[in-house]
Amino acid sequence: MVKLDEVKTLNAALLAESRRPLIGVFLGGTSGIGHMTARALTSSAQQANGHAPRVYLVGRSEQRGREIVEELKGICPAGTYRFVRAEDLSLMACVDAVCAEITRLEGQEQEPRIDYLMTSHGGAIFQPRKDTKEGLDVTMAMMYYSRMRAIQQLKPLLLKSELPAAVVSVFAAGFEAKLFRDDLSLRDPQHYSYLQARSHLCHMHSAYLAKLAETHSDDTTGKLRLVHIFPGLVLTSAFDNPAYPAWFRFLFNRILVPLFLRPFVAVDSDESAARMLSLASPVLYPAANVGDGGGETGTGGAVRGMDGSLGSGAYSLDWKGDDIHNRKAYAKLGDDGEVEALKNQVWEHTNKAFEIIAAGKCFTE
Ligand SMILES: NC(=O)c1ccc[n+]([C@@H]2O[C@H](COP(=O)([O-])OP(=O)(O)OC[C@H]3O[C@@H](n4cnc5c(N)ncnc54)[C@H](OP(=O)(O)O)[C@@H]3O)[C@@H](O)[C@H]2O)c1
Repeated sequence: MVKLDEVKTLNAALLAESRRPLIGVFLGGTSGIGHMTARALTSSAQQANGHAPRVYLVGRSEQRGREIVEELKGICPAGTYRFVRAEDLSLMACVDAVCAEITRLEGQEQEPRIDYLMTSHGGAIFQPRKDTKEGLDVTMAMMYYSRMRAIQQLKPLLLKSELPAAVVSVFAAGFEAKLFRDDLSLRDPQHYSYLQARSHLCHMHSAYLAKLAETHSDDTTGKLRLVHIFPGLVLTSAFDNPAYPAWFRFLFNRILVPLFLRPFVAVDSDESAARMLSLASPVLYPAANVGDGGGETGTGGAVRGMDGSLGSGAYSLDWKGDDIHNRKAYAKLGDDGEVEALKNQVWEHTNKAFEIIAAGKCFTE
């Protein structure tokens, strides 16, 4: 477990020592973990007396966006805070429009870049399969495809970060289970359930992020640090989503939360936000092949990455910041050759979906 004191020290150092303002982009920044992390970034910058941050908040609710911009201005008045409205991030066309707007706005600044990209947008879980007009299941599109698409679209700015940039996808790291290699999209109705989709989303996160980290591990290609994290139970408005039945919301929010979850189970929201922010620091989660964090022998405090080596550039983490990559699920795939084949398969599948959708067609594979 990364101790909370260490997390706070990392955050203070990150913001005090940075030679330039930290630029954070939060897809899902109008609520929950995205909002809390944007606030942690802003207050840490203010406390550290370093450069004031530049923050982009993305979500559907204009009102929440405006309120949070005002809240952040109140915390660190010298910072720049912008709300970028998203129509619906389950559509890749919307992801592209949002990323184009962020790129345009950031392009007007001196030394445009992104140092920290958090994708925490998401709706109700345990929903039946529902396809978007682009041909992707809504849950899978929100929790995986839109997030990988955002990384690809924002990559030119991410690669300009000196840190190098950290990308954090907040979902369900470690929950890899059964995998249908011949039906990654889970189109066969016999294959689809939320839990099965979650398993695929985790496998696909691991494979795609590992491939991205490999591609961006040296100075020629530019470096990236990529994290998929399970946040634990963080009590946000996610559990009051109108998509859930009224009886569930009443039972969960009025009875389970105050009596049992808040006192005994939930992760404190300020702690969660501080931990999420600390992923921006390269100390524990370096890019591949960097410093003594890289490889099996170096330690440098680095955390074990998805490929099992220290400081691999792609990380699958639990809420405490520890490696949670589900190696048992991967062992079932077979030898290293099979894992490599899966990485290539997921990479090709995902990029093909992006290509077909960008051409205005429906993805059917
Ligand atoms: N909280 C937990 O305990 C927990 C546990 C495990 C995993 N997770 C995962 O962590 C992520 C973040 O959770 P959270 O609790 O922070 O969720 P949350 O409070 O519900 O926030 C979700 C964010 O996504 C945005 N959003 C939802 N649907 C959207 C859409 N169609 N288009 C654009 N933006 C949309 C929401 O803003 P607007 O309403 O303004 O659009 C909001 O900013 C989710 O993926 C969740 O599944 C959470």
